Amino acid sequence: MNVHFQTTQSHADPDVIDFGAGHPADTLLPRTILQQAAALRLAQLDSSLLQYGLEQGDGYFRYALAKFLSRRYATSVDMERLFVSSGASQALDLICTLYTQPGDVIFVEEPTYFLALRIFADHRLKVVPIPTDAHGLDIDALEAALAGQRPALLYTIPTHQNPSGFTLPQERRVRLVELSVQHGFLIVADEVYHLLSYDAAPPPPLASFAESGAVLGLGSFSKILAPGLRLGWVQAAPQHMQRLYTSGLLDSGGGLNPFTSGLVRVVLEQGWQDEYLEHLHNVYRQRIKVLHASLQEQLGDLVTYVVPTGGYFFWLQLPKTIDASILFQRAATHKVSFRPGVRFSGQNGLQNYLRLSFAYYDEAELTEGVRRLKAALQEM
Ligand SMILES: Cc1ncc(COP(=O)(O)O)c(C=O)c1O
Repeated sequence: MNVHFQTTQSHADPDVIDFGAGHPADTLLPRTILQQAAALRLAQLDSSLLQYGLEQGDGYFRYALAKFLSRRYATSVDMERLFVSSGASQALDLICTLYTQPGDVIFVEEPTYFLALRIFADHRLKVVPIPTDAHGLDIDALEAALAGQRPALLYTIPTHQNPSGFTLPQERRVRLVELSVQHGFLIVADEVYHLLSYDAAPPPPLASFAESGAVLGLGSFSKILAPGLRLGWVQAAPQHMQRLYTSGLLDSGGGLNPFTSGLVRVVLEQGWQDEYLEHLHNVYRQRIKVLHASLQEQLGDLVTYVVPTGGYFFWLQLPKTIDASILFQRAATHKVSFRPGVRFSGQNGLQNYLRLSFAYYDEAELTEGVRRLKAALQEM
Protein backbone atom coordinates (compact mmCIF):
# COMPACT_ATOMS: atom_id res chain seq x y z
CA MET A 1 0.00 0.00 0.00
CA ASN A 2 1.27 3.41 -0.94
CA VAL A 3 0.43 5.88 1.83
CA HIS A 4 1.46 9.52 1.78
CA PHE A 5 1.24 11.36 5.08
CA GLN A 6 1.48 14.78 3.52
CA THR A 7 0.07 17.78 5.31
CA THR A 8 0.94 20.90 3.38
CA GLN A 9 -0.08 22.11 -0.07
CA SER A 10 3.46 22.56 -1.33
CA HIS A 11 6.43 20.34 -0.62
CA ALA A 12 9.68 22.22 -0.86
CA ASP A 13 12.52 20.10 -2.22
CA PRO A 14 15.34 20.91 0.24
CA ASP A 15 17.85 20.93 -2.63
CA VAL A 16 15.92 23.52 -4.66
CA ILE A 17 15.57 27.22 -3.93
CA ASP A 18 12.06 27.88 -5.16
CA PHE A 19 11.41 31.60 -5.49
CA GLY A 20 7.91 30.57 -6.52
CA ALA A 21 6.88 29.78 -2.93
CA GLY A 22 4.45 32.57 -2.01
CA HIS A 23 4.18 31.69 1.68
CA PRO A 24 6.43 31.88 4.75
CA ALA A 25 8.67 29.02 5.86
CA ASP A 26 7.47 27.03 8.88
CA THR A 27 10.20 28.63 11.01
CA LEU A 28 8.59 32.05 10.54
CA LEU A 29 5.08 30.93 11.51
CA PRO A 30 3.72 32.09 14.92
CA ARG A 31 3.22 28.73 16.62
CA THR A 32 3.94 30.07 20.12
CA ILE A 33 1.51 32.96 19.74
CA LEU A 34 -1.28 30.57 18.72
CA GLN A 35 -0.35 28.19 21.54
CA GLN A 36 -0.71 31.02 24.06
CA ALA A 37 -3.94 32.28 22.50
CA ALA A 38 -5.44 28.78 22.54
CA ALA A 39 -4.41 28.25 26.18
CA LEU A 40 -6.01 31.54 27.23
CA ARG A 41 -9.20 31.11 25.24
CA LEU A 42 -9.81 27.44 26.03
CA ALA A 43 -9.29 28.04 29.75
CA GLN A 44 -12.41 30.25 29.72
CA LEU A 45 -15.69 28.63 30.80
CA ASP A 46 -17.22 29.42 27.43
CA SER A 47 -17.53 26.83 24.70
CA SER A 48 -19.29 29.09 22.23
CA LEU A 49 -16.41 28.97 19.77
CA LEU A 50 -17.20 25.27 19.33
CA GLN A 51 -20.77 26.05 18.24
CA TYR A 52 -22.14 26.89 14.80
CA GLY A 53 -21.12 30.52 14.53
CA LEU A 54 -23.06 33.69 13.85
CA GLU A 55 -23.40 33.97 10.07
CA GLN A 56 -21.61 37.32 9.80
CA GLY A 57 -18.81 36.14 12.10
CA ASP A 58 -18.27 36.28 15.87
CA GLY A 59 -19.09 39.77 17.17
CA TYR A 60 -16.22 39.84 19.68
CA PHE A 61 -13.78 38.89 16.94
CA ARG A 62 -15.21 41.46 14.53
CA TYR A 63 -14.98 44.11 17.26
CA ALA A 64 -11.30 43.28 17.87
CA LEU A 65 -10.65 43.14 14.11
CA ALA A 66 -12.39 46.49 13.48
CA LYS A 67 -10.29 48.11 16.21
CA PHE A 68 -7.08 46.60 14.82
CA LEU A 69 -7.89 47.62 11.23
CA SER A 70 -8.96 51.15 12.20
CA ARG A 71 -5.57 51.62 13.83
CA ARG A 72 -3.48 49.98 11.12
CA TYR A 73 -5.42 51.54 8.21
CA ALA A 74 -5.55 54.91 10.00
CA THR A 75 -9.17 55.09 8.88
CA SER A 76 -12.24 54.05 10.80
CA VAL A 77 -13.58 50.51 10.22
CA ASP A 78 -17.01 49.59 11.59
CA MET A 79 -17.41 46.00 12.86
CA GLU A 80 -20.88 45.90 11.25
CA ARG A 81 -19.22 46.29 7.85
CA LEU A 82 -17.07 43.17 8.38
CA PHE A 83 -17.96 39.64 7.30
CA VAL A 84 -15.69 36.81 8.43
CA SER A 85 -14.43 34.53 5.66
CA SER A 86 -12.17 31.49 5.40
CA GLY A 87 -9.53 33.60 3.67
CA ALA A 88 -9.49 35.82 0.62
CA SER A 89 -9.77 32.87 -1.79
CA GLN A 90 -12.97 31.61 -0.18
CA ALA A 91 -14.41 35.13 -0.09
CA LEU A 92 -13.62 35.57 -3.78
CA ASP A 93 -15.30 32.28 -4.57
CA LEU A 94 -18.41 33.19 -2.57
CA ILE A 95 -18.61 36.61 -4.23
CA CYS A 96 -18.43 34.95 -7.66
CA THR A 97 -21.21 32.55 -6.59
CA LEU A 98 -23.48 35.35 -5.42
CA TYR A 99 -22.73 38.12 -7.90
CA THR A 100 -22.04 36.40 -11.22
CA GLN A 101 -23.54 34.01 -13.75
CA PRO A 102 -21.47 31.76 -16.04
CA GLY A 103 -20.45 33.76 -19.10
CA ASP A 104 -20.30 37.09 -17.26
CA VAL A 105 -17.30 39.33 -17.88
CA ILE A 106 -14.76 40.02 -15.16
CA PHE A 107 -12.09 42.66 -15.65
CA VAL A 108 -8.68 41.84 -14.14
CA GLU A 109 -5.33 43.56 -14.09
CA GLU A 110 -2.67 42.41 -16.54
CA PRO A 111 -0.72 40.93 -14.75
CA THR A 112 -2.89 39.50 -11.97
CA TYR A 113 -2.78 36.87 -9.23
CA PHE A 114 -2.74 33.65 -11.23
CA LEU A 115 -4.80 31.59 -8.78
CA ALA A 116 -7.64 34.12 -8.82
CA LEU A 117 -7.85 33.25 -12.53
CA ARG A 118 -8.47 29.63 -11.49
CA ILE A 119 -11.41 30.70 -9.31
CA PHE A 120 -12.87 32.78 -12.15
CA ALA A 121 -12.50 29.76 -14.46
CA ASP A 122 -14.43 27.61 -11.92
CA HIS A 123 -17.28 30.11 -12.23
CA ARG A 124 -17.05 30.10 -16.05
CA LEU A 125 -16.37 33.83 -16.12
CA LYS A 126 -14.95 35.54 -19.16
CA VAL A 127 -11.70 37.19 -18.07
CA VAL A 128 -10.82 40.48 -19.76
CA PRO A 129 -7.34 41.80 -18.89
CA ILE A 130 -6.92 45.56 -18.43
CA PRO A 131 -3.42 47.02 -18.86
CA THR A 132 -1.39 48.31 -15.91
CA ASP A 133 1.63 50.58 -15.68
CA ALA A 134 4.17 51.27 -12.94
CA HIS A 135 1.35 52.66 -10.77
CA GLY A 136 -1.09 49.80 -11.23
CA LEU A 137 -4.36 49.72 -13.13
CA ASP A 138 -4.39 52.07 -16.13
CA ILE A 139 -7.64 53.97 -15.56
CA ASP A 140 -7.73 55.45 -19.07
CA ALA A 141 -7.46 51.95 -20.53
CA LEU A 142 -10.22 50.85 -18.15
CA GLU A 143 -12.44 53.69 -19.32
CA ALA A 144 -11.82 52.72 -22.94
CA ALA A 145 -12.71 49.08 -22.18
CA LEU A 146 -15.90 50.21 -20.44
CA ALA A 147 -17.02 51.93 -23.61
CA GLY A 148 -17.23 48.46 -25.19
CA GLN A 149 -18.65 46.32 -22.38
CA ARG A 150 -19.79 46.34 -18.77
CA PRO A 151 -18.22 43.71 -16.51
CA ALA A 152 -20.08 42.12 -13.59
CA LEU A 153 -16.97 42.55 -11.46
CA LEU A 154 -13.55 44.14 -11.59
CA TYR A 155 -10.88 42.29 -9.60
CA THR A 156 -7.93 44.36 -8.42
CA ILE A 157 -5.03 43.99 -6.00
CA PRO A 158 -4.49 47.70 -5.37
CA THR A 159 -1.62 47.58 -2.87
CA HIS A 160 1.72 45.75 -3.26
CA GLN A 161 0.17 43.83 -6.10
CA ASN A 162 0.83 40.16 -6.74
CA PRO A 163 2.94 39.80 -8.85
CA SER A 164 4.05 43.32 -9.83
CA GLY A 165 4.36 44.93 -6.37
CA PHE A 166 2.70 48.11 -7.69
CA THR A 167 0.44 50.27 -5.53
CA LEU A 168 -2.43 52.26 -7.00
CA PRO A 169 -2.19 55.97 -6.11
CA GLN A 170 -5.11 57.65 -4.36
CA GLU A 171 -6.25 59.68 -7.42
CA ARG A 172 -6.63 56.47 -9.41
CA ARG A 173 -8.54 54.83 -6.54
CA VAL A 174 -10.98 57.73 -6.58
CA ARG A 175 -11.41 57.53 -10.37
CA LEU A 176 -11.83 53.78 -10.25
CA VAL A 177 -14.65 54.04 -7.71
CA GLU A 178 -16.29 56.84 -9.74
CA LEU A 179 -16.20 54.65 -12.84
CA SER A 180 -17.72 51.71 -11.00
CA VAL A 181 -20.61 53.86 -9.77
CA GLN A 182 -21.08 55.40 -13.21
CA HIS A 183 -20.98 52.10 -15.11
CA GLY A 184 -22.62 49.89 -12.50
CA PHE A 185 -20.02 47.23 -11.81
CA LEU A 186 -18.64 46.01 -8.48
CA ILE A 187 -14.99 46.29 -7.49
CA VAL A 188 -13.51 43.33 -5.65
CA ALA A 189 -10.37 44.69 -3.98
CA ASP A 190 -8.03 41.96 -2.82
CA GLU A 191 -6.00 43.78 -0.17
CA VAL A 192 -4.14 40.89 1.44
CA TYR A 193 -0.77 42.70 1.25
CA HIS A 194 -1.97 46.08 2.49
CA LEU A 195 -0.68 45.51 6.02
CA LEU A 196 2.69 44.32 4.71
CA SER A 197 4.03 47.81 3.93
CA TYR A 198 7.69 48.23 4.85
CA ASP A 199 8.17 51.82 3.84
CA ALA A 200 5.81 54.80 3.71
CA ALA A 201 2.15 54.01 4.39
CA PRO A 202 0.17 53.23 1.21
CA PRO A 203 -3.05 55.14 0.41
CA PRO A 204 -6.06 54.01 2.49
CA PRO A 205 -7.38 50.62 1.34
CA LEU A 206 -10.01 50.55 -1.39
CA ALA A 207 -12.24 49.04 1.31
CA SER A 208 -12.43 52.56 2.75
CA PHE A 209 -14.77 53.31 -0.19
CA ALA A 210 -17.06 50.49 0.94
CA GLU A 211 -19.89 52.84 1.99
CA SER A 212 -20.38 53.79 -1.67
CA GLY A 213 -21.56 50.21 -2.21
CA ALA A 214 -19.10 49.92 -5.09
CA VAL A 215 -16.33 48.02 -3.30
CA LEU A 216 -16.01 44.68 -1.57
CA GLY A 217 -12.63 44.72 0.21
CA LEU A 218 -10.94 41.40 0.98
CA GLY A 219 -8.45 40.93 3.80
CA SER A 220 -6.73 37.87 5.21
CA PHE A 221 -4.68 36.59 8.11
CA SER A 222 -2.78 34.34 5.68
CA LYS A 223 -0.04 36.88 5.05
CA ILE A 224 0.04 38.62 8.44
CA LEU A 225 -0.32 35.61 10.76
CA ALA A 226 -0.59 32.15 9.13
CA PRO A 227 -2.19 30.70 5.99
CA GLY A 228 -3.28 27.53 7.81
CA LEU A 229 -5.72 29.57 9.91
CA ARG A 230 -7.91 30.02 6.81
CA LEU A 231 -9.26 33.24 8.21
CA GLY A 232 -10.07 36.47 6.42
CA TRP A 233 -12.73 39.10 6.06
CA VAL A 234 -14.82 41.10 3.61
CA GLN A 235 -15.43 44.80 4.27
CA ALA A 236 -18.50 46.09 2.47
CA ALA A 237 -21.71 48.13 2.65
CA PRO A 238 -24.77 46.74 4.53
CA GLN A 239 -26.55 45.46 1.40
CA HIS A 240 -23.50 43.35 0.51
CA MET A 241 -23.04 42.16 4.10
CA GLN A 242 -26.60 40.92 4.08
CA ARG A 243 -26.16 39.21 0.74
CA LEU A 244 -23.04 37.39 1.96
CA TYR A 245 -24.35 36.17 5.30
CA THR A 246 -27.80 35.18 4.10
CA SER A 247 -26.32 32.87 1.46
CA GLY A 248 -27.09 29.15 1.53
CA LEU A 249 -23.54 28.31 2.57
CA LEU A 250 -23.80 30.36 5.74
CA ASP A 251 -27.37 29.28 6.45
CA SER A 252 -26.34 25.65 6.41
CA GLY A 253 -22.90 25.79 8.03
CA GLY A 254 -23.20 28.91 10.17
CA GLY A 255 -20.47 31.54 10.31
CA LEU A 256 -17.08 30.62 8.90
CA ASN A 257 -14.29 29.58 11.22
CA PRO A 258 -15.79 30.35 14.66
CA PHE A 259 -13.08 28.31 16.38
CA THR A 260 -10.14 29.94 14.61
CA SER A 261 -11.59 33.42 14.92
CA GLY A 262 -12.08 32.74 18.66
CA LEU A 263 -8.33 32.21 18.98
CA VAL A 264 -7.28 35.03 16.67
CA ARG A 265 -9.52 37.39 18.66
CA VAL A 266 -7.16 36.79 21.61
CA VAL A 267 -4.12 37.40 19.39
CA LEU A 268 -5.62 40.77 18.42
CA GLU A 269 -6.76 41.72 21.92
CA GLN A 270 -3.39 40.95 23.47
CA GLY A 271 -1.54 43.08 20.91
CA TRP A 272 0.35 40.02 19.67
CA GLN A 273 -0.75 40.59 16.08
CA ASP A 274 0.87 44.04 16.13
CA GLU A 275 4.10 42.65 17.59
CA TYR A 276 4.22 39.83 15.07
CA LEU A 277 3.50 42.21 12.21
CA GLU A 278 6.44 44.40 13.27
CA HIS A 279 8.60 41.28 13.30
CA LEU A 280 7.47 40.34 9.78
CA HIS A 281 8.11 43.87 8.56
CA ASN A 282 11.68 43.75 9.87
CA VAL A 283 12.34 40.32 8.38
CA TYR A 284 10.91 41.15 4.95
CA ARG A 285 12.45 44.64 4.81
CA GLN A 286 15.85 43.07 5.36
CA ARG A 287 15.21 40.36 2.78
CA ILE A 288 14.28 42.97 0.18
CA LYS A 289 17.60 44.73 0.81
CA VAL A 290 19.56 41.51 0.44
CA LEU A 291 17.70 40.26 -2.62
CA HIS A 292 17.95 43.66 -4.31
CA ALA A 293 21.70 43.81 -3.59
CA SER A 294 22.38 40.36 -4.99
CA LEU A 295 20.17 40.95 -8.05
CA GLN A 296 22.13 44.12 -8.76
CA GLU A 297 25.44 42.40 -8.23
CA GLN A 298 24.68 39.24 -10.23
CA LEU A 299 22.07 40.26 -12.80
CA GLY A 300 22.20 44.04 -12.81
CA ASP A 301 22.59 44.33 -16.57
CA LEU A 302 19.98 41.68 -17.40
CA VAL A 303 16.91 42.42 -15.32
CA THR A 304 14.78 45.50 -14.75
CA TYR A 305 12.48 45.94 -11.77
CA VAL A 306 11.09 48.35 -9.21
CA VAL A 307 12.26 47.55 -5.68
CA PRO A 308 9.12 46.50 -3.76
CA THR A 309 8.07 48.49 -0.70
CA GLY A 310 5.67 45.84 0.59
CA GLY A 311 4.19 42.42 -0.09
CA TYR A 312 6.18 39.33 -1.02
CA PHE A 313 7.46 39.78 -4.55
CA PHE A 314 10.06 41.09 -7.00
CA TRP A 315 8.70 41.28 -10.55
CA LEU A 316 11.61 41.05 -12.97
CA GLN A 317 11.59 42.03 -16.61
CA LEU A 318 14.07 40.18 -18.82
CA PRO A 319 15.23 41.26 -22.27
CA LYS A 320 12.47 40.61 -24.86
CA THR A 321 14.50 37.80 -26.39
CA ILE A 322 14.45 35.69 -23.21
CA ASP A 323 11.40 33.54 -22.55
CA ALA A 324 11.03 33.01 -18.80
CA SER A 325 9.31 29.66 -19.39
CA ILE A 326 12.43 28.35 -21.11
CA LEU A 327 14.58 29.85 -18.37
CA PHE A 328 12.31 28.02 -15.91
CA GLN A 329 13.31 24.68 -17.46
CA ARG A 330 17.00 25.60 -17.46
CA ALA A 331 16.71 26.79 -13.87
CA ALA A 332 15.55 23.33 -12.76
CA THR A 333 18.94 21.88 -13.65
CA HIS A 334 20.53 24.54 -11.42
CA LYS A 335 18.14 23.73 -8.58
CA VAL A 336 16.41 27.08 -8.57
CA SER A 337 12.82 27.91 -9.48
CA PHE A 338 10.39 30.85 -9.82
CA ARG A 339 7.02 31.66 -11.38
CA PRO A 340 7.20 32.57 -15.08
CA GLY A 341 5.33 35.76 -15.97
CA VAL A 342 2.96 34.04 -18.39
CA ARG A 343 1.18 32.45 -15.40
CA PHE A 344 0.00 35.93 -14.36
CA SER A 345 -1.32 36.90 -17.77
CA GLY A 346 -4.97 36.78 -18.76
CA GLN A 347 -3.91 36.68 -22.43
CA ASN A 348 -0.87 34.43 -22.60
CA GLY A 349 1.55 37.36 -22.53
CA LEU A 350 4.33 38.57 -20.19
CA GLN A 351 6.72 35.89 -21.51
CA ASN A 352 9.80 37.87 -20.53
CA TYR A 353 8.78 38.42 -16.91
CA LEU A 354 9.29 36.38 -13.78
CA ARG A 355 8.18 36.63 -10.18
CA LEU A 356 10.49 36.02 -7.23
CA SER A 357 9.06 35.66 -3.73
CA PHE A 358 11.15 36.48 -0.67
CA ALA A 359 8.61 35.13 1.84
CA TYR A 360 10.01 31.63 2.19
CA TYR A 361 13.82 31.82 2.22
CA ASP A 362 16.30 33.50 4.54
CA GLU A 363 18.88 35.98 3.37
CA ALA A 364 21.66 33.46 2.68
CA GLU A 365 19.30 31.26 0.66
CA LEU A 366 18.02 34.22 -1.35
CA THR A 367 21.59 35.16 -2.26
CA GLU A 368 22.40 31.58 -3.24
CA GLY A 369 19.18 31.44 -5.29
CA VAL A 370 20.21 34.49 -7.31
CA ARG A 371 23.64 32.94 -7.92
CA ARG A 372 21.92 29.84 -9.34
CA LEU A 373 19.55 31.98 -11.40
CA LYS A 374 22.54 33.74 -12.94
CA ALA A 375 24.08 30.37 -13.85
CA ALA A 376 20.82 29.38 -15.57
CA LEU A 377 20.59 32.73 -17.39
CA GLN A 378 24.15 32.45 -18.62
CA GLU A 379 23.11 29.33 -20.51
CA MET A 380 20.38 31.18 -22.40
C1 LIG B 1 -3.44 38.43 -4.17
C2 LIG B 1 -3.74 37.25 -3.35
N1 LIG B 1 -5.00 37.00 -2.99
C3 LIG B 1 -5.33 35.95 -2.25
C4 LIG B 1 -4.37 35.05 -1.82
C5 LIG B 1 -4.80 33.89 -1.00
O1 LIG B 1 -5.34 34.37 0.20
P1 LIG B 1 -6.00 33.43 1.28
O2 LIG B 1 -4.92 32.56 1.83
O3 LIG B 1 -6.52 34.38 2.30
O4 LIG B 1 -7.06 32.64 0.63
C6 LIG B 1 -3.04 35.27 -2.15
C7 LIG B 1 -2.00 34.32 -1.73
O5 LIG B 1 -0.98 34.16 -2.37
C8 LIG B 1 -2.71 36.39 -2.93
O6 LIG B 1 -1.46 36.65 -3.31
